[in-house]
Amino acid sequence: MDLKRHNSFRLVHKGLRLLMYSTATRLQQANLASRSDGSAVMEQVQLVLNLFESHAHGEDHYFNEPLEKINPDVSTLFQKEHEEDHRLSAVLQDQLKAWFDARRDEDREIIGNRIFYTLNEFVAFNLYHMNKEETMLNQALWNAYSDEQIRSIEQELVKNIPPAKMMSYAKWIFGGINDAEATEWLTGIQMNAPAEVFSAFKQVAAQTLSPERWESIQANLEKVHVSVA
Ligand SMILES: [Fe+2]
Repeated sequence: MDLKRHNSFRLVHKGLRLLMYSTATRLQQANLASRSDGSAVMEQVQLVLNLFESHAHGEDHYFNEPLEKINPDVSTLFQKEHEEDHRLSAVLQDQLKAWFDARRDEDREIIGNRIFYTLNEFVAFNLYHMNKEETMLNQALWNAYSDEQIRSIEQELVKNIPPAKMMSYAKWIFGGINDAEATEWLTGIQMNAPAEVFSAFKQVAAQTLSPERWESIQANLEKVHVSVA
């Protein structure tokens, strides 16, 4: 894996991994028989499904489909993996509906237990899948495009994410990356996006990160700003 090339999936996958780890942990701790105890974590399972669905759709539309003509084997492999992802997601979606519709604690307990195992499968599948995207799919993209081209495809993809959904991704991304990555990400947004977009991202970062980390990132942003000016 060439660490010098642009890895378009790095930050978003770190955010999505954190979301999966957090959800799996909360599922282990919650009393899933109880509506009041289980509802919040079940809503987080729903968020996992929503963000992974739209993420896979973006990858297919902006990376895998254009790659069909250049590298059909890799393109087909990843589109097929997204079908499996979608299948697991549909199973979880039905189980979630059944959990919210259930009226008795014993029914919620049985369905909650099924959700726990299906989510574990979903997590396991996606951990392998995202590693494969960052190695095999990236290699195919690096062979086909320059870093500059990959960055501009990525910007197109990001531009088409509705703002509320983008802020939802941003929360998990800020929680899942290191200070240098957060500084670099925010610097890119500051240079390429309107001021109100930059300030919306800064607000999410301030809410998500510890005060110490946010202070140190802000200090680094100012240094970058001074050196650019
Ligand atoms: Fe994917």
